Amino acid sequence: MLPGGPYHVTEAPLVRMRPVVNAEGDPVAWERGPEIDHPAVYDLCRCGRSATQPFCDGSESRDAWSDSEVADRRPSAERRREFGSGPVVLTDDRSLCSGARFCSVGKDSAWTLAMQTEDPERRLILTEMVARCPSGRLEYRLVGSPMPVEEELSPEIAVTKDGPLWVRGGIPIEAAGGFRYEVRNRVTLCRCGASGNKPFCDGSHIRVGFRDARAND
Ligand code: FES
Repeated sequence: MLPGGPYHVTEAPLVRMRPVVNAEGDPVAWERGPEIDHPAVYDLCRCGRSATQPFCDGSESRDAWSDSEVADRRPSAERRREFGSGPVVLTDDRSLCSGARFCSVGKDSAWTLAMQTEDPERRLILTEMVARCPSGRLEYRLVGSPMPVEEELSPEIAVTKDGPLWVRGGIPIEAAGGFRYEVRNRVTLCRCGASGNKPFCDGSHIRVGFRDARAND
């Protein structure tokens, strides 16, 4: 991150991703869009005001904007709460939530399913639900193992429709002051400028009605 400025990306493919919703409006899958052309090194908007989304156009230097990085810098494992009474344990780091709502489909929520993982069908619904959570708020582990079970994602940055940047595959993230955040397989970064947990998305883009016309293409 550049102080008061954009995300400065030195190496990462850039793609579009949009959630697919079912008839009831619940998000149930991700649809991969086209790759976005970019130079080898590029800057992504962090304030939400760029006219050339997802890229920075220098708007942040013209407008008042808070780039304050206030997110808890401890490893996520120190914040996780655990849920479940069967062979699979759901772990939840609420501070990473981006409001993507993949944690609930119809009457099922990840937390209720976590109490039913003796049933293989319910277990499968839960593990697939957790895998779709973009921010990594939700993870799961098997009883007896401390390690989360995760598909290893390829390093890339996904621009989500009207939402955060979904940083996948363990791409290192460095604060404007040089601090290196915990490297994670998936995490969501704010690009609307309104998060109260910067640099991470906290779902505020929904409250402020953030729209990225280009991401809707
Ligand atoms: S993009 Fe989600 S809070 Fe800014």
